[in-house]
Amino acid sequence: MSKTLRGPAERTLELLREPPDEPDVSAGYLDLLGASAKKSPSLAQSVMESTFLPRIYEKVWRPIGFNLAKGWPLGPDTAEEHAMARDWLGLSQPGYASRPPATVLDVACGPGNVTRALAAGVGAAGLVVGLDASETMLTRAVADTPHGDPVAYVRGDAVDLPFRDEAFDAVCCFGALYLFEDPWAALDGMTRVLKPGGNLIILTSRRPLPTPRLGADLLRRATGFTAFGDREITRALTDRGYTALRHRRYPLMQVAAARRP
Ligand SMILES: C[S@@+](CC[C@H](N)C(=O)[O-])C[C@H]1O[C@@H](n2cnc3c(N)ncnc32)[C@H](O)[C@@H]1O
Repeated sequence: MSKTLRGPAERTLELLREPPDEPDVSAGYLDLLGASAKKSPSLAQSVMESTFLPRIYEKVWRPIGFNLAKGWPLGPDTAEEHAMARDWLGLSQPGYASRPPATVLDVACGPGNVTRALAAGVGAAGLVVGLDASETMLTRAVADTPHGDPVAYVRGDAVDLPFRDEAFDAVCCFGALYLFEDPWAALDGMTRVLKPGGNLIILTSRRPLPTPRLGADLLRRATGFTAFGDREITRALTDRGYTALRHRRYPLMQVAAARRP
């Protein structure tokens, strides 16, 4: 293990299935993809890898786009969404005296907006690991995360998670399942790295009307974006044995949470 790694980054190395002999942390996050990352990502993922989007993502793109998709002002705003994530994952709310020492994975963390919100719900002995494939998003995440937060960032593939089985007490995947090439393989991976009894929460797209399969396939092929049906996510969770299912539907988004058996 590298002598230069301390705290959250060092603890994250211990969660890896195959820790590298010489971890690359030169950009402030642990880079497990290096030059091997996909050369021609989908249109949607190309936008995520641009240098422009991370600059406006948290303050402009995310609140406007997501709040509208959640039906704001009737649906939850960003703060309510973060509180829901902490609550449904069994974490504390900021300011509570007692906070669990939980180890949490934030899959496709982007610029770390949700990662930091989850970190506000774990105690000093807790750890939140944000994983993303985009160098530009992770650079922003590192810059915007206060030193001393129990947070570490990893550049890796959400569809092939690099962590050990049952490494995490809770797993969160917000605003990203619809971008993955194989969302069900990603869900299998999230299940694998979650401890039995641990909670998973997913915020993803919702197809408000039944769309012919051809239309959904064309959208996916053209943009890399999947619009999930009302029961697709909940069914995928129950098929994997999850219990204690919670599901909220908004006009163009849905949140589902459940406990791993
Ligand atoms: C819209 S952002 C979501 C950020 C944050 N989770 C949120 O809720 O605001 C989607 C992120 O998914 C990441 N992403 C897409 N496909 C990925 C994959 N296969 N592996 C890792 N990250 C991926 C993108 O790089 C992007 O940062």
